[in-house]
Amino acid sequence: MTVTAVVGTQWGDEAKGKVVDLLSQHADIVARFNGGDNAGHTVINQFGTFKLRLTPNGFYNPQTTCIIGPGVVLNLKTLIDEIEDIQQSGIELVNRLWVSPRCNVIMPWHPMLETIYEEAKGSARTGTTKRGIGPVYADKVSYNGIRLYDLADEQILAEKIRVQLAIKNPVFKSFGLEPLNLKAILEEKLDQYAHIREVVRESFGLLHEALSNRDAILLEGAQGALLDNNWGTYPFCTASITIAGGAAAGLGIPPHSISRVIGVAKAYTTRVGAGPMPTELTDETGGTLQREGHEYGTVTNRPRRCGWFDAQLVRFSTQLNGVTELALTKLDVLDTLPTVKICVGYQRGDTADQIWHYWEGDATWLGENQPVYIELDGWQQPTSWVRDFAQLPPNAQEYVRKIEKLVGVPVKFVSVGPARKETIIL
Ligand code: GDP
Ligand code: IMO
Ligand code: MG
Repeated sequence: MTVTAVVGTQWGDEAKGKVVDLLSQHADIVARFNGGDNAGHTVINQFGTFKLRLTPNGFYNPQTTCIIGPGVVLNLKTLIDEIEDIQQSGIELVNRLWVSPRCNVIMPWHPMLETIYEEAKGSARTGTTKRGIGPVYADKVSYNGIRLYDLADEQILAEKIRVQLAIKNPVFKSFGLEPLNLKAILEEKLDQYAHIREVVRESFGLLHEALSNRDAILLEGAQGALLDNNWGTYPFCTASITIAGGAAAGLGIPPHSISRVIGVAKAYTTRVGAGPMPTELTDETGGTLQREGHEYGTVTNRPRRCGWFDAQLVRFSTQLNGVTELALTKLDVLDTLPTVKICVGYQRGDTADQIWHYWEGDATWLGENQPVYIELDGWQQPTSWVRDFAQLPPNAQEYVRKIEKLVGVPVKFVSVGPARKETIIL
């Protein structure tokens, strides 16, 4: 069997949740390796509709083990609520969920620090999900993090909170915010830990046994390549490593064990939050994409910015991730459009005859670039009923084939609706 990573190739919300749901039916293990409850993965199947924030999407199959690896940061309230919701829907999860004690925990000061940063930046703010993701990863890499390991020991935890409050409370005071109280935080975290103690167990041994048994392991990426902390549109990005290369580090498995990388790409482009987006449409067509695609953030409910498919970006993402196959999602959202455009590269004012690539500059540079488009005829027919590629309208087939050619990776899945069954497998 194989280790398959499912990763976003754009700015998140590519419908990774749906693609993982499709594949998880045959998985022995599904594991999350990055991010936190900034993620919102929508799953619609026979058990109902779920918007998963932290739990890996493998719990529908009673044989599947779900793992949250050390690369993930935990909002404990989100985790507790999510486990409860899943258990209440009649699915046994507690015995099958393994959460690494190495995971860093989001503490009350992290969202507060994030608010200070965002407000100080004013119009240059990132437009985060306000979950404290940047500050918790910052504390992690500067050895100031608090991990689940620490929550298992009251004395260690109290001392670590004391040190952090000695640093953070003066900052809060200087910004006119109420200082945090050690006792209240200690009690809250000990109580939350008591709720999840059963699922805190290191999965390293389990994963390596599964690798040697050649079990089917599915790695569920959060966010997307263009939000990656190294390669995204920094500082309009997230704090974690969102690409397939990060999956090995975030879970403790060898890079060469990942043999299949499925890059999930929406058939157009969306982005929540600030930062450059060369193909953004602020006209009626952008409105159509937003309306037809119900493009509102799963976590924050903010309207997502919408625009044409950017083959330049997705080609870059597939190279970055080593994508072996593409899952092209939400094709049906384009059904009513008379023409469709694809961006093939960028032009800059001073060098109008040269085509530029995403990786040649930073976010400011990208924001100054003009997209170069090719235009195709639309199909203006519904596609959600289609289950076989040959049944798609010829212009829709051509659109998919054109994307495949421009990106340089075969399309293996075309999604034509939110439900599991609304999928064409090539
Ligand atoms: P994720 O974060 O990558 O898992 O994506 P989200 O769940 O945040 O956003 C994807 C949204 O599109 C969800 O509301 C899905 O139910 C919906 N969706 C997924 N696939 C399709 C599709 O092929 N067509 C349409 N119309 N909606 C889809
Ligand atoms: P999924 O897994 C879309 C975006 C935020 C913001 C930037 C930084 O559902 O695809 P953060 O809170 O991470 O510090 O915010 O990243 N962002 C996402 N956008 N989908 C996501 O996750 C996202 N997670 C973070 O909107 O622009
Ligand atoms: Mg999402």
